[in-house]
Amino acid sequence: YSEEDSGDDYLFKIVLLGDSGVGKSNLLARFARNEFYSNSKSTIGVEFQTQKMEINGKEVKAQIWDTAGQERFRAVTSAYYRGAVGALVVYDISRRQTFDSVGRWLHELHITILVGNKKDLKDAREVSTAEGKSLAESETLFFTETSALDSSNVNAAFQTIVKEIY
Ligand code: GTP
Ligand code: MG
Repeated sequence: YSEEDSGDDYLFKIVLLGDSGVGKSNLLARFARNEFYSNSKSTIGVEFQTQKMEINGKEVKAQIWDTAGQERFRAVTSAYYRGAVGALVVYDISRRQTFDSVGRWLHELHITILVGNKKDLKDAREVSTAEGKSLAESETLFFTETSALDSSNVNAAFQTIVKEIY
């Protein structure tokens, strides 16, 4: 599933999917730049960022496509996940509706990790860890819960997907 780039580098195309406001752009900002935006704007269309990673002692490049969750961009974003080999399908543990629509974002990409983001919002939790795990099992997906705010499991989520592709 790898596409040769230059020299010993490998380029992996990964896509971030999920409803608007679940934290896709902030997961990428935390992973790629160690930044967090408490007032981030909704993504328009698609943006991407290339990030170097080390997998099994080898340098690889992940090209991470951050898509807009808003419905009105659906036609644009669907054109982008086609060439991707891995996906992070993200929901917000504090908004059940975003969990209920996970199915709409599963596109049978080779490798998908289901990500319950905003795990820092403990008091506002609407989706239990067990529910997330159970959905992931029934769809044969990897699973994790993350927080772009406090950084927990963010690197690990991206590492999991790239490692599996590699
Ligand atoms: P679209 O681009 O519209 O699809 O949304 P998105 O999924 O990219 O969401 P975005 O990253 O813009 O985050 C939406 C809001 O959630 C922002 O106000 C963020 O600050 C907040 N947010 C993102 N991740 C977290 C998190 O882990 N914890 C908390 N508490 N807030 C978060
Ligand atoms: Mg966004």
